[in-house]
Order: sequence, then structure tokens, then C-alpha cells
Amino acid sequence: MDLSIRSGEVHALVGENGAGKSTLGRCLAGVLIPDEGELLVDAAPVQYRAPRDALNDGITIVEQELALVPAMSVADNVLLGHRKGAAGGLRRRRALSAEVQGLNDRFALGLEVSRTVESLTVADQQKVEILRALSRQARIIVMDEPTARLARDEADNLLRVIRMLAEQGTAIVFISHILDDVLSIAERVTVMRNGEVVKSGEAAAETPASLVEAMLGRAASLEFPEKRPVGVDVAPILSVRNLSDGRRVHDVSFEVRPGEILGLGGLVGCGRSEVARLVFGAERPARGAIEIDGAVTGIGSVRHAVGHGLAYLPENRKDLGLLLDLSSQENATLAHLDQVTRWGFISPRRERREATAILERLSVSPADPALRVKALSGGNQQKVLFSKWLWQAPRLLIADEPTRGVDVGAKFAIYELLVELAAEGMAILLISSEMEELIGLSHRVVVMARGRGVAELDGEQVHEERILHAAFASRAEPAREASA
Ligand SMILES: Nc1ncnc2c1ncn2[C@@H]1O[C@H](COP(=O)(O)OP(=O)(O)OP(=O)(O)O)[C@@H](O)[C@H]1O
Ligand SMILES: [Mg+2]
Repeated sequence: MDLSIRSGEVHALVGENGAGKSTLGRCLAGVLIPDEGELLVDAAPVQYRAPRDALNDGITIVEQELALVPAMSVADNVLLGHRKGAAGGLRRRRALSAEVQGLNDRFALGLEVSRTVESLTVADQQKVEILRALSRQARIIVMDEPTARLARDEADNLLRVIRMLAEQGTAIVFISHILDDVLSIAERVTVMRNGEVVKSGEAAAETPASLVEAMLGRAASLEFPEKRPVGVDVAPILSVRNLSDGRRVHDVSFEVRPGEILGLGGLVGCGRSEVARLVFGAERPARGAIEIDGAVTGIGSVRHAVGHGLAYLPENRKDLGLLLDLSSQENATLAHLDQVTRWGFISPRRERREATAILERLSVSPADPALRVKALSGGNQQKVLFSKWLWQAPRLLIADEPTRGVDVGAKFAIYELLVELAAEGMAILLISSEMEELIGLSHRVVVMARGRGVAELDGEQVHEERILHAAFASRAEPAREASA
């Protein structure tokens, strides 16, 4: 492919999962070495053998999967491998630390630089990576899906940071599936398909629909599948009563019935993911009850949860979901070895055939169950994670950000699938920071704020204004108390 990046421009790269966006970004930043072609910086040919070479020319990348050291502080992560080196003494380190603090303030990132990375939300971890690029005084920063992990207000904050950078002359290569973000920030946009450029030009000339058509090579429907009615008299599969963890979840209660998609709404950090982890037994509640089919379960045990037919798609696929060195098929079947072996022998051929069918249903590309997950693009890894649940056919599926990083075409395929699974009787607990997704799929939405359930919206009430109102109204109250 041919591509040019001008100084001070935001240049968006869009395309289906597996189109080659991350691969291109990595070639620019010296992470991958291209087989053919030329890279010119300031009109002079360059050849990068390592990220350090690219960095010397002021080019760096914030990768799709974060690469931070969890136990180290924000400042130390930013300074890690810094060209100015950690070599200097304590004074030097203090000075560098102050510099990190300065950048943090200048771009209003709002990070506490002395905190450990593991204690931060995913959104803040994302900002640490950006701080790292800023501290390296990059002229070109490739950002691979930087807003995918962020809630709307945080994403907007990041877009502001990107604008500030561009105004100061830094070029940003902005890779994203969130086409609204692309159109609001980019000056130029390049559409890729199968490793080639299919279109490149002014962003002002594009719409979400025109981009999707170029990406897929055909027009696609961006309509949510119709919600199917839930039986009125069916008993809930899951009842959560007065659940608290003593820290971030307080007195939360709700029920999910078979066939129902229950959305958990609220701002980032409102405690939704913590509720998911409590229900799945990954954390121990301090108080409250979790009932499955009307019976209290062994609380705080993943084993019990899985035994009762619960499945959990975690928010962070790299840490919790996938074993990157194993194949798609192994990943899909691993979590449920019990299930696979319960009936004794399963022919490897049949297993492989079934795995292929699932991968095809999710349009994983390439749909080869033997391929190591590491070799798949980010969005395709997410789809493999999804395939684990299909294999398992759970009764209650807890899906935390199920379409993060997935391209628009595949996203709507996943929506169809969720609605179908619910129609077949599965109960789904959905967490999504994409308002459209939450509203488009959920029969009911429980809005959380500061760890509490603050509203429960049903049917017609499920719309953006009501959800935001509930989320924000209760955010203001405790603040007033605090200042009184
Ligand atoms: N290490 C690797 N070995 C073999 N194939 C790879 C490797 N890394 C990527 N690929 C393949 O190259 C293609 C492009 O992948 P890439 O990660 O660049 O896609 P992408 O456009 O970033 O997709 P996504 O939107 O899912 O992140 C994919 O088909 C992928 O499977
Ligand atoms: Mg990618």
C-alpha cells in the first residue's frame, strides 16, 4: 500500500477486522519489519529494525493491547526504556518524574503519577500509554483503537488531547472502528481492505455509511435486530439481592429471566464490572445473596457459577480471556474440559468441525481452528473469546463489552447472535459503554451510579435521556453532601 502522513494531521485508518491496520501501524513504528517497499521520513528513506530506531525519528505506537507493568507506578511505566535512561541518579529520576507530571497536567489527563498501574481503571491505563508516547516527544503517534476501551466522556477527553497534539504539529495515525470518532477527529481517512488501500481522502467527504461500504465492499444494514418478547410468568434464572462487596458495590438488587437481556448502564467506574465479577464468583461479596433458580449458590466460587451454567466474557480479553499461544479451538474448548469429557470420547474430527462452524458463524478470519490466537487480528481474537460461550451453551451469559474492537459488520452479527441466544432461552447480563448497544439490545436496563442501582428502566423507558439522567443525577448528590 501507498500512504502519506502530513505533520499535524489526524489521519484515520479504518477497515474490517484483519484488514491490516495494526500491521501497517507496527511497520511504521519499527515493531514489524516490512518485506517490501519504502518508508520515507522527511523525504529520506529509512529502515527500522526495532521500535527504538523509529523512536529516534520521533515515530511511536500505542498498541491495541496495552503493554504496561502492572505493579509499577504510572511514572515508572512512562519512563520505562526511556532514551534519557533510568541510569541517572535519584535527582535525575525526580526530574523525569516531574516532567511526567507536567505532561499529565498539560494535556489534562488527570492521572496520579505515583499510583501503580494495576490500581487504575482500563481507561486510565490507556492514558498511561499515551503519556508514554507524549514523553518521548513523538512527531508521529500511531494510536491503535485508543478509544475502544473508554466511556463516552473519557473518549471525548482523549479526542481533545489528540486535537491539542495535532495543533502543536504532531501527526496522529488514528486506527478505530468507532466511525463517529473517526469522522469527528480526522482530516483524512484511509480505508483498508485485505491489506490494500481501497480509498483515501478528505474525511469531510465521508459518512459512516460510505466508510462501511468501502470497508466491506458492500452496503450493510446498521439496524439492531428486533427485540423478542420475554415470557411474563417465567421465574428468574438469576436473582441478586442487596449485593455489596464492601468497597465498590453497595446494596445492588436485580433479576434476570430466561430470554431476557438485562443491561447494566452507568458511567465508567460505577461498579458494573464489579457486579459481574461478584455474580460469576470471581470476587467474594461482603453482604447479600445471589440466587440461581431460586436457590442460594455457593458464593464466591467460579466453579459453582460454571456448574450452574453461568458464563462470563470479561472486559479485558488479554488478561482474563484467552491463551494467546493456543489455537482458537483449544481456547474455545479449554474452559469446559469437564463438559467435553463428561460424555467420554469426542472425536477430534467432530470437535474440529464444530469449532470451524462456530468460527464461521462469527466470521472469524481466517476461520481455521488450528491457528494460534496470537496470529489473529485484535477484533478476531475478540470473536474467538465469544466462541467460548457458544461452545458452552450457558444458561446465563455475562457479557462485559462484548463487541469492543470488533468491526461494524461483525458487530451486527454479534447483536443478531445475542438476540437469537436470548430467544432460545438464554438469560443475558449485558454491560456496555456504548449507549446505542445497551439501548438497542436490552429489554430492561438497571442504571448504576457509585456502586448502587439508582434506576430500573423497562421497555419504552429504555432510552438515552433516562439512562443519562439517572446516572448523572445521583452523581451530583453525594458531592453536595461532601461539600456541606
Ligand atoms: N503474527 C502474525 N502471524 C500471522 N498472521 C498475522 C500475524 N499478525 C497478524 N496476522 C494476520 O494479518 C492480518 C491483518 O491483521 P491486523 O492485526 O493488521 O488486522 P487489523 O486491521 O488491525 O484488524 P483488527 O480490526 O481486528 O484489529 C490478519 O489476517 C491477521 O490474522
Ligand atoms: Mg488491529
